[in-house]
Amino acid sequence: VADIDKNELKNVAEALVAPTKGILAADESSGTIKKRFASINIESSPETNRKYRLLLFTTEGIEKYISGVILFDETIKQSTDEGTPLTKLLSDKGIIPGIKVDLGKESFSESPDEYVTKGLDGLSERLVEYKQLGALFAKWRAVFKIGDGQPSELAIDKNSDLLASYALACQENGIVPIVEPEVLMDGLHDINTCRNITYKVLKTVFTKLTEFNVYLEGILLKPNMVTSGKDLTIDTPEEVSSETFAVFSEVIPDNVPGVVFLSGGQSPEQACSNLNELNKRPSKPWELSFSFGRALQQPVLSTWTGKDENILAAQKEFVKRAKLTSLARQGKYTPDMENK
Ligand code: 13P
Repeated sequence: VADIDKNELKNVAEALVAPTKGILAADESSGTIKKRFASINIESSPETNRKYRLLLFTTEGIEKYISGVILFDETIKQSTDEGTPLTKLLSDKGIIPGIKVDLGKESFSESPDEYVTKGLDGLSERLVEYKQLGALFAKWRAVFKIGDGQPSELAIDKNSDLLASYALACQENGIVPIVEPEVLMDGLHDINTCRNITYKVLKTVFTKLTEFNVYLEGILLKPNMVTSGKDLTIDTPEEVSSETFAVFSEVIPDNVPGVVFLSGGQSPEQACSNLNELNKRPSKPWELSFSFGRALQQPVLSTWTGKDENILAAQKEFVKRAKLTSLARQGKYTPDMENK
């Protein structure tokens, strides 16, 4: 990656984790948005998906809290009713458009119960197209489920290789890669198990990124927080913060500009309380921000329920979540703010 491009990458990465801001993950694939819509009894189609994304992106005032939005392939090619591309709608507000570039997961032949991420074929060509459409950053998600002997070393290795190849391809095309290795919350495991596995995964990911000569100042890491399994007890924010830091301080190089957490199925309040506690640490080498999907959108969806007359109320929920998450990102959130 040439020096001049490095500066650009670094500037975009830093803008995405500006001190009061974070990312909205609105890149649900066709299958995922279908599931989310089914929970409010509406049917997904490119047009209903577009209407919903418009609701989100036209919410007044979100640019104070949201630095960037991750889009799905369908969305990055869509426009407003007046014909303005959605990417332009966002950039005009000072919000950076991003794009999900992985193509989902497929089973891993060496270990059939596990998955590897698809999408390396033709990636460079797609990156060129997305850059022309206005994307300045991208996302690639690898998933790891905690289970009997899982994730295996092989699955960790293979997915880390793919993440590093993707990251390098992005940087060569002037796009900031968000590197997302997600250890899922599903299951009954305790917080120590999650800590050990998150450590192994992140350690391998950074070894590969370094091997592939990825420019670390020009990436963002999107990890899970270290928590116990969703089906077990809920950890205190202090536990989550201390276990997460125990891993991060050992594996994330200081020159990575920022970490943008996924919410992973935590409730909006839980995700904010945990992010807040993490940000209370007085000194940390990286910005600790968010790239939430569900924790920013759940209340919006359940207020909207697909009805035009609910759009304003749903947007009110969205700006409230964006504001509270921004406060958490600064260590200034308290749960009683939820009821104001
Ligand atoms: P959640 O915050 O709902 O986990 O979504 C973030 C994301 O983009 C997962 O890839």
